[in-house]
Amino acid sequence: MTTKPAGTSGVGPSAAPSAGEREPKHAALRAELLALIDDGMRPHQPLPSERELMQRYGVSRMTVRRAMERLCTEGRVYRVQGAGTFVADPSTISKSLHLTSFSEDIRGRRMIPGSRLLVMERTEADLACARDLFLTPGTPVVHLERLRLADDEPMCLENSWLPEDVVHGLLDEGEPPSLYAWLDRVGAAPVHADQTIRATVVDTRQAQLLGVPAHFPALQVERVARDVKGRAVERAVSLYRSDRYDYRLSISREPRP
Ligand code: GLP
Repeated sequence: MTTKPAGTSGVGPSAAPSAGEREPKHAALRAELLALIDDGMRPHQPLPSERELMQRYGVSRMTVRRAMERLCTEGRVYRVQGAGTFVADPSTISKSLHLTSFSEDIRGRRMIPGSRLLVMERTEADLACARDLFLTPGTPVVHLERLRLADDEPMCLENSWLPEDVVHGLLDEGEPPSLYAWLDRVGAAPVHADQTIRATVVDTRQAQLLGVPAHFPALQVERVARDVKGRAVERAVSLYRSDRYDYRLSISREPRP
C-alpha cells in the first residue's frame, strides 16, 4: 500500500501523473483503494473512514467522496448509513441504482462479459411491449434473448424488445457485444429507466440455461429504458441468479420537524 503523510498533496507514488497525462485525484485515489482492497482485505471489512483517508492520502473530502462513489457504482464497496464503507463480496454482483449495462456491471467486477445469443428476430409488439414502449400493438419490434455470461459462466437470462424504428440496422449488423454501447452509437443511449424487481423461481428451460437446479430462486428485473429524448427504447425482462446478484438501495426520510 502506498500512503502519503498528512498535509502533502497527491495520493501516492503509483498514482502520480506522468508529464502530459494528468489523472484526476479521485481516479488516482480510487486506484489506491482498489490496490488496498486487493492487497488482502476481506469481504465486509470496513474501509478507513473519510477523515483517515483524507489525512493518509493528503486529499480533500470531495476527492474521497468521488473515489468512494465510483467504487460503489462499480460494486467493489458498499455503504451502510452511519456505519461506514465496506468491501463488497466479490462472489455477488451488487447492483446499485445507477443505470448500468450488464457489460459494465461485469467489467466493474473485473470479469469478462459475454453472451450466448438465443433469439434475435423481428416480431410484433404484444400488449406488454405496446404498453411499455408506447406503441400500437403489432408495431414491429426487435426481440433479443441472450444468456449473459461472466468469465463464461451463466449469470442472467435476458429478453429485450426494442422498437424497430429506433434500432434499424441492428438485425443486419448482428448481435452487438453490448446492446447499450450499440444504442449509444446510434444516438439512443438509455439514460433513465423504470424498474420492477421481484422474486421468482426458474422453470426447467431457464434452469438448464443458467446452470442451476429447477425451481432455483431468481431475481426478475423488468426495465423500461428511455433515451435522452424521453423515447422508450427498451423493454427488458432479466432473470438473475439469486446466488450471484443483489440490489442495494440507499433510502432516507425527511427529518421530523
Ligand atoms: C442490463 C439491463 C438490460 C440491458 C443490458 C444491456 O442487463 N437489465 O435491460 O439490455 O443491461 O447490457 P449490454 O450493454 O451488456 O448488452
